[in-house]
Amino acid sequence: MTSSRIQSLQAIQILDSRGLPTIQVTISVTNPSDPIDNKVYWAKSSVPSGASTGTWEALELRDNDANNYGGKGVSMAINNINTIIAPKLIGNRYDRAMQVDELMIELDGTPNESKLGANSILAVSNAVHRAMAKVSKQELFQYLRSEYFDQFGEDYQMPRLMSNIINGGAHADSGLDVQEFMVVPNSGDLRTDVKIASEIYHRLKADLHKAGQITSLGDEGGFAPKLATSVEALDLITRSVQEAGYAKQCNIALDVASSELLDSQTQMYRIDGQNLSAGELVKHYNSLITKYDIISIEDGLAEDDIAGWQIAKRELTADLWQIGDDLFVTNSKRFQELALGSNVANGILIKPNQIGTILETVQVINLALSNNYITAISHRSGETTDTLISDLAVACNSKFIKLGAPARGERVVKYNRLLEIAELI
Ligand code: PGA
Ligand code: ZN
Repeated sequence: MTSSRIQSLQAIQILDSRGLPTIQVTISVTNPSDPIDNKVYWAKSSVPSGASTGTWEALELRDNDANNYGGKGVSMAINNINTIIAPKLIGNRYDRAMQVDELMIELDGTPNESKLGANSILAVSNAVHRAMAKVSKQELFQYLRSEYFDQFGEDYQMPRLMSNIINGGAHADSGLDVQEFMVVPNSGDLRTDVKIASEIYHRLKADLHKAGQITSLGDEGGFAPKLATSVEALDLITRSVQEAGYAKQCNIALDVASSELLDSQTQMYRIDGQNLSAGELVKHYNSLITKYDIISIEDGLAEDDIAGWQIAKRELTADLWQIGDDLFVTNSKRFQELALGSNVANGILIKPNQIGTILETVQVINLALSNNYITAISHRSGETTDTLISDLAVACNSKFIKLGAPARGERVVKYNRLLEIAELI
């Protein structure tokens, strides 16, 4: 086994895809396990940020100083890395990246990483994993596979793309309540799936032009046309998919992000011009599933509406992937309590920054996989050019990867990393 000695670790503030502050970490390590290897290995990481964040997510530490980026500064988080975490790590030798994750979890000591900040912790965790992959002469996806997912051996299955082509909810002012309308190519080949997603995206753009719609983009690179209901968006997508010639090679997925739609007073969901109870909302989904080629609904019910999730599980076809995002927040404890205790959902969305370390992220993935849940590894609406999610999705043979539209650098870079990995496996 190789080991790594951390030589330097430094965090700086950079901007994310919304132009708001986030963290970049640069690390250098050496390889004390090989006397003839005197190289210095450098790696860099950065972390994303959500807009429709779940209540139960780990804490993203922000300065909350209104005079500094409207309160969104991350100087405290950066300070935590440079003055608390880095001095603990520099000069030390580690055999495995997970040891650093364990150390940071202990150093933080809170259940939601609120002392050091999950943004600080993930930036370091990601950088350390990247550096140690280099020392062991592996690509990141290979290192993650060998460290955490050796049950799959050398069997690599590329994930199916969830490509978000119409944005609504908190990510765009399209007027749509549902946050994400995604196409999910099913050719069985990554390169073909990328081509399908791209061609549909461009066909949709042309169709929107024809319909006199603006083609501005939402936070995740999908279009943000002025539309009133899910039916209007689904009609448009269905037509573009057909015109592009992919009716048989592409399905549809939704992320309703319904925690954002629930009125806490009345416990009714405000969606598609209606006010619906959980039971009525499930019937609404049923009518959409019957009419359109929808294979997956994420956060169909709100994060704490467990009774609603149970209705959905009972009433909707077992073929539908019901994916929990705000529901599970990539948290093993919440997953164990809800998924294994109360018959909700059959898939889990995985966002490393909802929990903090890569170690905790892979633990919940393995817990989910061993309980017959499928995984969708996901970006956030505020992204950087970091491609951890692409490597992670391949490492764990994730069924899906959610990576936005095939547009805008911070989204495209995830597609391109998958295309690169497809050449390596
Ligand atoms: P967020 O949205 O990154 O703004 O939380 C993504 C999602 O809800 O899946
Ligand atoms: Zn979501």
